Amino acid sequence: MNPVWTIAKKRDGEELTAEEIGHFITDYASGEIPDYQMSALAMAIYLQGMSTAEIAALTDNMLASGATFSWPDGGLPKVDKHSTGGIGDKVSLPLAPMLACCDLQVPMISGRGLGATGGTLDKLESIPGFRTDLSMDEMRQVVDSVGCVISGATADLVPADRKLYALRDVTATVPSIPLITGSIMSKKLAEGLDALVLDVKFGSGAFMKTEALARELAESMVNTGKRMGVGTTALLTDMNQPLGRMVGNAVEVDESVAALEGRGPADLMEVTLALGAELLVSTKQADTLDQARATLQQTIDNGAAREKFAQMVAAQGGDLEAARPVAPESEVVTPRAGFVSAINAERLGEAVIAMRGGRQQLGDVLDLSTGFEMQVRLGDRVEAGQPLARLFAPPEVANAGRDKLLSAIELSDEQSEVRPLILERIA
Ligand code: URA
Repeated sequence: MNPVWTIAKKRDGEELTAEEIGHFITDYASGEIPDYQMSALAMAIYLQGMSTAEIAALTDNMLASGATFSWPDGGLPKVDKHSTGGIGDKVSLPLAPMLACCDLQVPMISGRGLGATGGTLDKLESIPGFRTDLSMDEMRQVVDSVGCVISGATADLVPADRKLYALRDVTATVPSIPLITGSIMSKKLAEGLDALVLDVKFGSGAFMKTEALARELAESMVNTGKRMGVGTTALLTDMNQPLGRMVGNAVEVDESVAALEGRGPADLMEVTLALGAELLVSTKQADTLDQARATLQQTIDNGAAREKFAQMVAAQGGDLEAARPVAPESEVVTPRAGFVSAINAERLGEAVIAMRGGRQQLGDVLDLSTGFEMQVRLGDRVEAGQPLARLFAPPEVANAGRDKLLSAIELSDEQSEVRPLILERIA
């Protein structure tokens, strides 16, 4: 099959067959189709879009490009959550052990910070000794013995995505719903799941800035998951301010542990319980979302989830009780009074990068001790001289972080409407 015909067909807005997509992706993964032809097809997909059937074929063939987890029949259901990324989004840390306390197993493959958003692996690496580079066999063992694991993708998982994502990054084809769907869903489905829940974020700190785009992506991913036999639902959640109060790496682990000890901030708990409840209902561990939320809450109340998290950390070489790095603390105060009317959450992510808690370039070594604790939320009234945040940063980067933070928080004389955190459920 001549790849030029496939490119031309998509360029002209026609629907590709599963066979055409299969050949193209397989030959690209094996190196037979060069980057320049894959770039042309990616741009044609970016401009013309894809049908649900085409997206499913794309996902299926990307998935088939590498190894996948397969689990013995009759075991506990395998579940996972994927978030499209946000500021202060640490949900994976409390959620994985909570689910593992509810007769579910969680083989979670996570990533590092992308753009201004933080990465679960970076956060976990602030725990002394914690390994995020487990082999597939090691991941399987931790799932069997503990019930949950959080580690990075191995080289043999979905190699087509690794190649294609790097290419998209340099050909202006990242923000394409079909390509994002194929990329995310192939990696999640490689975990051999029975159910998946997606946290699709919208707003100033999200990849998708508008509700409409987030909804389109959520529908595309839910349809693809279902078509591939995995119970998939999604929540659209607001990312116009950080989730929880802590933003950074070690400080987000601190807040996750607090959440597992029943001291989590209300917004973090709302999203964590709502996402977890979707998985309990999808796998029939609960009949209703309310019942599922209560079951999950119980894993915190009885200390089981905190204990499970410590077990997972130990199984991955870490010590949850060992001191995590913490940078010197200072206050960020507001020079004027007013209502917090807008927060540029992306800029808050940039504040962490400015304090070396996120990457400016691939390969940057992070300072996991930096970050901040928000002391205001949208709609709050503040007086001049009142603290907006507690900053954790060594002196040489503290000013850069403080400037970004101050520029991210808008004050006005009018109190604006505070919107719900969870906008919509897509099933
Ligand atoms: N995250 C991914 O894994 N892939 C994309 O295409 C975008 C975000």
